Amino acid sequence: MTRDFAGLAAVVTGGGSGIGLATARLLAARGATVACLDLDPTGVPDPLVGVTCDVTDTDSVTAAVATAASRLGGLDVLVNNAGIGARGTVEANPDAEWHRVFDVNVVGVVRTTRAALPHLRASAAAAIVNVCSIAATAGLPDRALYSATKGAVQALTLAMAADHVAEGIRVNCVNPGTVDTPWVRRLLDAAADPAAELTALRARQPIGRLVSAAEVAAAIGYLASPLTAATTGTVLAVDGGMHGL
Ligand code: NAI
Repeated sequence: MTRDFAGLAAVVTGGGSGIGLATARLLAARGATVACLDLDPTGVPDPLVGVTCDVTDTDSVTAAVATAASRLGGLDVLVNNAGIGARGTVEANPDAEWHRVFDVNVVGVVRTTRAALPHLRASAAAAIVNVCSIAATAGLPDRALYSATKGAVQALTLAMAADHVAEGIRVNCVNPGTVDTPWVRRLLDAAADPAAELTALRARQPIGRLVSAAEVAAAIGYLASPLTAATTGTVLAVDGGMHGL
């Protein structure tokens, strides 16, 4: 395996589960030291560093990023992955729910990025990867709020890429389709007919199956790697062809 992250330090938000944990494992396997910032970092395995963090709380984010940078000896890569879901049309959710989900999925990215930028400016290989979703562009039914948050993250990615390119900080995002993670397994468990729901989710993606967390991690690793040092402001779909629907 390429050791393209040797000597680099990475922070992954939401690194305690699913795509975040798979990404942390991949970056570590390729030589990075990695901190997983999560509401619940108890399941984070060695040698990954688990740090408690709530991305909706500025003080928590500031403290967690400082702890991570201190324990890792700096910070080169930030993966903004923490996020939550929401179902429904625009009629389904009250204002408070719109604010709650935007606070995690969008302002959470802003908070961790603000805390990380001073460290990233000191790196010769600075990269941010935001975990967005194909919901940003696909026009999925019954996902108005969630799609709006991810549309915002995609727009934020392009704006951040423009703002920070001159100081050597790259910003890209991945847009996964439906990924087999604990989140999706929780949704399936809650469905009236989990087997039928799984079949429908698989059929929605032209590839005919769910995307794996490792496949999303591979795309994040590609965008975060010093090997792609000329790539910024890129939106990379990892969706089994779903965006073409
Ligand atoms: P997951 O639920 O398995 O993991 C998310 C992690 O984020 C959890 O460990 C959770 O504790 C953490 N988290 C949640 N709120 C947090 C907060 N306020 N502060 C800190 N940590 C927090 O979910 P999964 O599937 O791995 O999703 C990760 C990201 O990928 C999310 O941003 C999601 O929107 C995105 N995504 C997921 C897809 C899927 O089908 N699973 C598809 C497209 C995008």
